[in-house]
Amino acid sequence: METISFARGVPAPELLPIEELADCAKTAIERDGAAALLYGHTLGYQPLREWIGERHGVDPARVVVTNGSTYDRPRKILNGFDEVPLDDDGLDVDELERLLDRDSPPAFLYTIPTFQNPAGVTLSEERRRRLAELADVRALRILEDDPYGLVRFEGEPLPTLFELEGGRNVMYSSSFSKTIAPGLRVGYVVLPEEIAAGLEDLVASTYISPALVTQATVLEFLRRGLLEPNLERVRGLLRDRRDAMLEALERELRGQARWSRPEGGYFLWLELPEGTDATELLGRATAAGVTFVPGSDFGGEQSSARLAFSFAAPSEIGEGVSRLARLVPAVAAVKLP
Ligand SMILES: Cc1ncc(COP(=O)(O)O)c(C=O)c1O
Repeated sequence: METISFARGVPAPELLPIEELADCAKTAIERDGAAALLYGHTLGYQPLREWIGERHGVDPARVVVTNGSTYDRPRKILNGFDEVPLDDDGLDVDELERLLDRDSPPAFLYTIPTFQNPAGVTLSEERRRRLAELADVRALRILEDDPYGLVRFEGEPLPTLFELEGGRNVMYSSSFSKTIAPGLRVGYVVLPEEIAAGLEDLVASTYISPALVTQATVLEFLRRGLLEPNLERVRGLLRDRRDAMLEALERELRGQARWSRPEGGYFLWLELPEGTDATELLGRATAAGVTFVPGSDFGGEQSSARLAFSFAAPSEIGEGVSRLARLVPAVAAVKLP
């Protein structure tokens, strides 16, 4: 029996624009191999920095193109620091204000406002405006991690914190992992100029320069105008997967569990019946051929789970949810100590 994975927060192979990228890589090397095949600028392939700078309306000197934008790193580095709770409208800004009043000023706030990983929730527009104002009024530095913003398949796009605040205290990071392909390892961050310049030595002494061939390949993809059509395709494929998962949950777990209904991104958040140990469920689910990540791995409730709908095919998703749902009553009956 094939395992159906709701654990892997990665795109299904059919989401990857393989042929287009093969062609873009060839052209990128032929056109600019003399630069892209050498050690390059520590802060990234210069023409791509310029493209990103233009897209965000900033000087390219503020753009650092990196080998991916990472997610597990901030989670590891920030583990143990204060966490601001989330609800259905994203980060609880009242709670953040209380923390700011109570403690000494933090070095920065790390946040994923759109289709948050793991919970799939999105910060409401009203809260975005309040947070942008806090950044300004309290000189609160914010790192806005936004790899999913363009992967919206329903509803109206919301302004980023970076746009609302003007990029003075808000630093913005994104990635081409969800919009083109994660194996390219091309992400970026827009920083205040002095911080960007300060990274040159650090980059030089850790990895010399980032992988330039894939950066040149991404630029070719962008210049050919392939991003928008690719996004349209990816959004459609993800919407079908999200819908398959929502339908299956409704069919199998209605009245027993609660789940979020994300308008984009890769994940939804499942709240199992109170007292259910999702880690125990995972053990049984793995044996039954379906996997997910327990919410407690992200600091969530013991009875919560992150389900990724990005990887499994729509035709497998219903079966995966059925396998999971069959196990819930038995695990829910085993009360947590
Ligand atoms: C919150 C978050 N940030 C960033 C990323 C992108 O990581 P990378 O650019 O290293 O592939 C991801 C991907 O999983 C993510 O979930």
